[in-house]
Amino acid sequence: VTTAVVVPAAGRGERLGAGVPKALVPVRGVPLLVHAVLGLAAAPSVASVVVAAPPDGVEPVRRALADALPDRPELVTVVAGGSTRADSVALGLAAVGPDVDVVLVHDAARAFAPPALVETVVAAVRRGAPAVVPGLPVPDTVRKVAEDGTAHETPDRASLRAVQTPQGFRRAVLDEAYARRSPSQPPTDDAALVEQLGVAVHVVAGSDEAFKVTRPVDLLLAEALLAAREAREAGGVQA
Ligand code: CTP
Ligand code: MG
Repeated sequence: VTTAVVVPAAGRGERLGAGVPKALVPVRGVPLLVHAVLGLAAAPSVASVVVAAPPDGVEPVRRALADALPDRPELVTVVAGGSTRADSVALGLAAVGPDVDVVLVHDAARAFAPPALVETVVAAVRRGAPAVVPGLPVPDTVRKVAEDGTAHETPDRASLRAVQTPQGFRRAVLDEAYARRSPSQPPTDDAALVEQLGVAVHVVAGSDEAFKVTRPVDLLLAEALLAAREAREAGGVQA
């Protein structure tokens, strides 16, 4: 079984508002995308990574990743992403090698997802699940709000999960989902697209550290997380 990861990284990062594409925003001096790819490279089952980069930034992204992984020049391929996340995933998927039979899709913005989470998702697909997503219990109460601002519906929190990436798929399933997608209805994520084929999506336990860097406050969390990881490594204390 060969596993590849498609990394959509072509978004503009409007909510972060850093003035550069989110994938290139540095945390402790290293771009988010480089953090993300280093995390994937540290997962033993990942044989290749295809990055969908901002279309005007393919060459600099290629160089930054080559510099970050000097010992593994074959690991990463960089292609130009598209104007929606799904377009970027489709462009990345088209560059996945023919020998690959398990494909993960992982947001560059979830740059600190632990390698153990990647392994958990891969293992679930290898055990037979066609589609696997990490999910976390939702800490807030979620209400459905009508256009007039009133809320009449409150789903039971116990049955809700906030879904993360990496999401894992049997390659044939993801290929089919993307081949059939309607460009006028962008999916919220890859698992939602696969669900439209009638395929069951299996949920595994997610990780707090796989949070998506979305708003400025998330950068503070990212800095603190990296500082804690460095301190732990320096102290030789096991996580
Ligand atoms: N993405 C992509 N191509 C796009 C849009 C998004 O590859 N055209 C990627 C982003 O780079 C990110 C992931 O999809 O890694 C999740 O998207 P999101 O967090 O929404 O990132 P942005 O679209 O960059 O942020 P915003 O919505 O705030 O502009
Ligand atoms: Mg977006």
